[in-house]
Amino acid sequence: MEIRVELKDILSYEGGAVVVNLFEEVEKPGGATGAMDKALDGAIQKAIARGELKGKLGERLLVHTFGKLPTPMVLVVGLGKQEQFTLDYVRSASAEALKHLRKAGAKQVGTIVHGAGIGGLDPEQCAQALVEGTILGLYTFDKYKKEKEEKEIQELVLLERDPGKLGAFTEGVARGRILAEAANFARDLVNEPANRMTPADMAEVARKVAEPLGLAYQALGPDEIKALGMGAFLGVAQGSQQPPRLIVLGYRGGEENRLHLGFVGKGITFDSGGISIKPAEGMEAMKGDMAGGAAVIAAVKAIAELRLPISVTAIVPATENLPSGTAQRPGDIVQAMNGKTIEVINTDAEGRLILADALCYARKQGASKIVDVATLTGACVVALGSIRTGAFGNDQHLLDQVIKAGEEAGEKIWPMPMDEEYDEQIKSDVADLKNVGGRKGGAITAAKFLAHFVEDASWVHLDIAGTSQADAEKSYQPKGATGVPVRTLVNLATLLWREARAS
Ligand code: BES
Ligand code: ZN
Ligand code: ZN
Repeated sequence: MEIRVELKDILSYEGGAVVVNLFEEVEKPGGATGAMDKALDGAIQKAIARGELKGKLGERLLVHTFGKLPTPMVLVVGLGKQEQFTLDYVRSASAEALKHLRKAGAKQVGTIVHGAGIGGLDPEQCAQALVEGTILGLYTFDKYKKEKEEKEIQELVLLERDPGKLGAFTEGVARGRILAEAANFARDLVNEPANRMTPADMAEVARKVAEPLGLAYQALGPDEIKALGMGAFLGVAQGSQQPPRLIVLGYRGGEENRLHLGFVGKGITFDSGGISIKPAEGMEAMKGDMAGGAAVIAAVKAIAELRLPISVTAIVPATENLPSGTAQRPGDIVQAMNGKTIEVINTDAEGRLILADALCYARKQGASKIVDVATLTGACVVALGSIRTGAFGNDQHLLDQVIKAGEEAGEKIWPMPMDEEYDEQIKSDVADLKNVGGRKGGAITAAKFLAHFVEDASWVHLDIAGTSQADAEKSYQPKGATGVPVRTLVNLATLLWREARAS
């Protein structure tokens, strides 16, 4: 899809459709919507009077222009209550609008930038949110279907009459596009079935990201992983015929030692539970147990495309978790890269085992701040549902920044406790730690386990078990993979860079 900004009156746009908007409880539309209404002999106002359109968020009214305007269709989208208006409403409204117009067969769409006028929000951020909502909302995954969605929006034009806003809009469009396409890229990896996204396939994907952007790329195999002393990672991998990969993707955009972010992502390409096998019902969703890994690869891609002047290293331990004659057993003791021994009580708590070694490796790579992303626990889904990602950490400031970055992205995050009393639950009788802490506070004890491998590094852990896949479509989020928290990670990198520059 081509996206551009044009200095033009919305009334003179000649493409397939134009989008204007309406806040809730507005009886007489003003601005561009008012001008449009006048050109259409009051059709919009009449629809409001009839109660056909109230301006509620997501609401749409399609008006055919019958020659009264150069465009054949005008779509009015509701923006909700003006006093509640946020950038996330811009994402939602633009997604609803573009999905509607795709169905209606429009190929070129002109739109006003929601929120940048009477909405009173920052014009650049509005343009960014509009583009994000559009690209995220129009996402489909139909590569394995013979019958594909034929209808496609080919062009989106942001129309503006004030030349002073064009620069900000252009910047916003560029950033929105990079962020949303990165999120869709992560969605693609998560939606792929496990037979098409093995650890080696995932490494190949990372290599293809690295090449055009000139990123450092490595994919270590079983022998190298063993040589590094990653016994916890290898223990999980030993049940599978697919050899594991430790994927490392590095972007160096700034002076070394200034700000070096480490992003660690769980890369279980299929989680059957291993010998502690999961029930059959819903097990297919475990093809998405590499969503954390997909997110960190996509985030580095976007950060490199934005040319942020910082360093970022993404580390993805990638393996399947399967039962077999060579699989690890409950009761086995493994040793992680930092020397700590772990009693494996439940082979289905495999994420924390592979992350233990990957976190040690992130520190060894010199990352000064580490964020890990993992579909780690069902307990987090019980606690926060599919609305908020759980956040844990050992550095309140970094945690605050991550939450803020998520808020800006419309990817909601909630802080969780890390009291030392929880440590009691993961003490083992026979090893330094055990990999499960019982049913109580399961998401927290998983995070406490990870803390043993970050030691004194500044660190945040994001549990995306509930937020990485959606059961139903909702505005800019289709059913399936969400791409959470790609945009959060990129915003975080931006926030931390601004902070480092200021200090
Ligand atoms: N991948 C799962 C967690 C998960 C659950 C992700 C639901 C997405 C949706 C993880 O490896 C797992 O199986 N965790 C166990 C841990 C338990 C054995 C301590 C869980 O949460 O049940
Ligand atoms: Zn598991
Ligand atoms: Zn898992």
